Amino acid sequence: NVDVPFSSVLTIVNRLSDVFQSLSLFESIDLPQIAVVGSQSSGKSSVLESLVGKGFLPRGSGIVTRRPTVLQLIHEPPGTAAATAPVEYAEFVHLPNQRFTDWDAVRIEIERETARVAGSGKGVSPSPITLRIHSPYVLNLTLVDLPGLIKIPVGDQPQNIESIVRDLVLKFIARPSTIILAVTPANMDLANSDAIQIARQVDPEGTRTLGVLTKLDLMDKGTDAADILRNNLLPLRLGYVGVVCRSQADLDAKTPLAVSRARENSFFANHPAYQDLYLQQQQLQTASSSQFVDSAAAGWLGTEVLGKRLQTLLMGHIRQHLPGVKQRLQTMLTTAQKQLSVLGSSPLDAVAVSASAGGAGAGAGAYGPVVLDAMTRFATLV
Ligand code: GDP
Ligand code: NA
Ligand code: MG
Repeated sequence: NVDVPFSSVLTIVNRLSDVFQSLSLFESIDLPQIAVVGSQSSGKSSVLESLVGKGFLPRGSGIVTRRPTVLQLIHEPPGTAAATAPVEYAEFVHLPNQRFTDWDAVRIEIERETARVAGSGKGVSPSPITLRIHSPYVLNLTLVDLPGLIKIPVGDQPQNIESIVRDLVLKFIARPSTIILAVTPANMDLANSDAIQIARQVDPEGTRTLGVLTKLDLMDKGTDAADILRNNLLPLRLGYVGVVCRSQADLDAKTPLAVSRARENSFFANHPAYQDLYLQQQQLQTASSSQFVDSAAAGWLGTEVLGKRLQTLLMGHIRQHLPGVKQRLQTMLTTAQKQLSVLGSSPLDAVAVSASAGGAGAGAGAYGPVVLDAMTRFATLV
């Protein structure tokens, strides 16, 4: 059903995602989302923060992102929430009913929750943290920040940390409904990109991989990435988007994201290698928004454009994958109902029973009604 607004479809997808995660079943269902991959310190967390327009992710040099972090961005125009509710806030699935309006506190909670599960050293864990951000300034998107690919163990990391991280990342991006955001810093050779390499492994046709080049401001004098961005060097079917995010000095000085965004735009508008592309992009953007985001590989520049392209891609992906998700849910429901007829409890606990029968976890019963409700909504959408 194409008439259903994207925001309501995404809300239901997000709801299902929460439920399956709470039941430790997040691997059993393949929900459309966008996962960010790349080597450590390539700028993955910085790109996500820039998209959200808030500084709330742990980032910097070394291994900082140690658990997958699922960000559900919810566009909420001012006035739609209760009058007393804050305009912009975050909430964690593991801390229901607690609203965060202080973005430093969000970062501290991510760090605390990371340490709780992955230890206080440099260990990683595949168990995701889910954070929902309500704001009038975000697009509706679901993004997953992943630990960076590394080669050599440091600190208390096990000898096989390279394959541990690789397997964790592969598990997320192998799902056909995941859009892969392959992040490579422009100051390294694209031919050495871990991001493109791992993306190719699971998406050889490149139908769901979007390239992102970060750190365009850090390239050697006299070099530029225009050829890559125009998709001439290592072509990807969905092309590349170039961005400039906050530097370490910006982070230390707490430069507001609005300031760095404005600086990013003026970087592109004034750079001899990019200004033509940038101008062309501005014109396309005003001419036709759908043509603008659909035409792959035109040499896209800037975080704003990246957000728009991602939303279009995710929307297409969700529509494509809805029928499969629905079928999977119905199978689970049928199995659960069979078990129920044996156990004789409330049908609302159906899926929860199937979850605990599968050994997935305690306390699952409370999620039964939520799953059923989300499934019913799904059924009317597909
Ligand atoms: P991650 O490990 O891939 O998540 O990388 P981070 O987002 O933590 O970034 C690593 C470092 O690179 C941080 O110090 C960022 O400030 C810096 N950085 C990221 N993107 C850019 C960029 O476009 N330009 C500059 N100058 N620095 C960047
Ligand atoms: Na990092
Ligand atoms: Mg990171």
